[in-house]
Amino acid sequence: MEVKFKIFRFNPKRDKAPRFDTFTVEASLNDRILDCLNKIRWEQDGSLAYRMSCGHGICGSDGMTVNGVASLACQKLVKDYDHTKDILIEPLQFFPVVKDLVVDMTPFFQKMKVIHPSSGTDVTDVEEGKELKQTIEDRALFDDAIKCIMCACCTSSCPVVLKEEPEFIGPAAVLRAQRYIFDSKVKDVLDRLKIMEKPHGVWSCKSYFKCTEVCPKRIKVTEAILQTKRKILRELHPTGT
Ligand code: SF4
Ligand code: FES
Repeated sequence: MEVKFKIFRFNPKRDKAPRFDTFTVEASLNDRILDCLNKIRWEQDGSLAYRMSCGHGICGSDGMTVNGVASLACQKLVKDYDHTKDILIEPLQFFPVVKDLVVDMTPFFQKMKVIHPSSGTDVTDVEEGKELKQTIEDRALFDDAIKCIMCACCTSSCPVVLKEEPEFIGPAAVLRAQRYIFDSKVKDVLDRLKIMEKPHGVWSCKSYFKCTEVCPKRIKVTEAILQTKRKILRELHPTGT
């Protein structure tokens, strides 16, 4: 079966403007979008640039926009799309393009950094000389958050980041903060809650649920953000002030 891909091409060092190239690939319904990109690069145009590593939804490096939705190319199959029409492949939104589908992830990692208090991460396994135990129930409070592979699909789909407030730290950063805020082995929870309250922090989230929709690890990102908001109200503003 022949499948057509319309792919964003841009080399800011050389091109005046982006363009789209169309490639026809011999593919089956169960081929991954990543397989098709590999075929294009290996057999038709070796200059096509995109990131990939594990090929199995673990490394988070092949985030891109497929038919308008941020996705991992290794997790999406040809049969997930109407393959009688061109499948549109573009870079993740919000991030500057380095080349073709490769984006500069620096803004994403900068956003992730601001969630840590200046004193540094304070996670401890020992308290007063004894092992600090954690119950299964306590551990479950941040189970979902630690599945994050930092692919940035959520941040690149967030309407607040894209249209309203680019400075918002974004869903992935709040999710990472939730992991620390709900970990009984973390000692600087109040400092972290105060960081979350700062401008462009958790209150910038308007619960559009886009992050949850696109997350390839099926993390309930919006729910983690809501949990963080509720904890701020409980711990920092118990009297409603
Ligand atoms: Fe990717 Fe999901 Fe983590 Fe966002 S929360 S960075 S979409 S794995
Ligand atoms: Fe590693 Fe897709 S290539 S997540």
